[in-house]
Amino acid sequence: MKKVALITGVTGQDGAYLSQLLAEKDYTLYGLLPRSTRYAFANLDYLGVTNQVDYLEGDLADEASLLRAVQRCRPDEVYNLAAQSFVGTSWDQPVVTSEINALGVLKLLEAVRLFAPRAHFYQASTSEMFGNSHINGEQTEQTPFEPRSPYAISKLFAYWIVNNYRESYGMFCANGILFNHESPIRGAEFVTRKITMAVARIVRGQQERLGLGNLDSKRDWGFAGDYVRAMHLMLQQSRPDNYIVSTGETHSIRDFLDVAFRRAGIEDWGPYVYIDPAYKRPAELFTLQGRSAKAQDVLGWRPEVPFEELVHRMVDADVARLESSKKT
Ligand code: GDD
Repeated sequence: MKKVALITGVTGQDGAYLSQLLAEKDYTLYGLLPRSTRYAFANLDYLGVTNQVDYLEGDLADEASLLRAVQRCRPDEVYNLAAQSFVGTSWDQPVVTSEINALGVLKLLEAVRLFAPRAHFYQASTSEMFGNSHINGEQTEQTPFEPRSPYAISKLFAYWIVNNYRESYGMFCANGILFNHESPIRGAEFVTRKITMAVARIVRGQQERLGLGNLDSKRDWGFAGDYVRAMHLMLQQSRPDNYIVSTGETHSIRDFLDVAFRRAGIEDWGPYVYIDPAYKRPAELFTLQGRSAKAQDVLGWRPEVPFEELVHRMVDADVARLESSKKT
């Protein structure tokens, strides 16, 4: 029997990579499609998997639509990747952020509890929940949470309600605490893609300068394609648990700029980058560096794409996109 998976957030970066992985594993795939993403298939198209997924109309804000979706597909595995995922926006829209990222997860869990109680449930939890908290410079599964954004606080509710449904109802619920993960289809508002798109335009003379916020924050950046493998592995275990997924390396925005501009043949990015206070956040996370020893030991998972190669892939893809758009 083919396994059935339901993916929320299917049109996002992670939804597309996960669809690709599960299609290769011969799953029957359902993707939840809210009105706002009805025509947003660019990521799935990029990976060539748009037609591998059946789409069900529904929205994390609309409980009845979730009940109908779960009842309709009776999934073996549910991957909740849908979110208002941009930290910056969470200060401008804290209520929407909380409705989707916190209460939306609860609504989905209820739908699963009622119509697919044996399904294995994956929640996209995040390193943002740690804030500036760390143990000897690293974040582990034992590091206390100190969220610093409405986004992180909404995700922390989701993290705990997922644990609670595991304990209260014996459901198979797992939290993947993922550190930043990027790719050539990363959303344009996130700093990595914002940089690689700008680099491609700058070398072609289509953009003069790039305005950024805090250049000193450090992130543990991995490749999204590696991280969806960890999500899948978490749901194949005999018991549910929470796992950090990270590379263990941290780099500043400046490091990212160095590698990205150099890839395009520009040694000194100084003249092209200026600080735009509009991109500074009311509260910042200075350094994220995750220890994924548990995922490596228990799941046998390893990150495969190192930092420099990730940046190169992203720059190369954005340069290639501009080249091909010029030809058409
Ligand atoms: N977006 C953005 N734009 N970030 C900037 C900019 C800018 O112009 N300039 C500096 N930064 C800094 C941010 O202040 C932050 O410290 C860092 O770059 C990374 O920002 P993002 O790429 O927006 O990602 P994030 O770390 O806030 O959140 C991402 O990772 C989380 C996991 O740690 C998102 O993917 C979240 O959804 C995810 O949970």
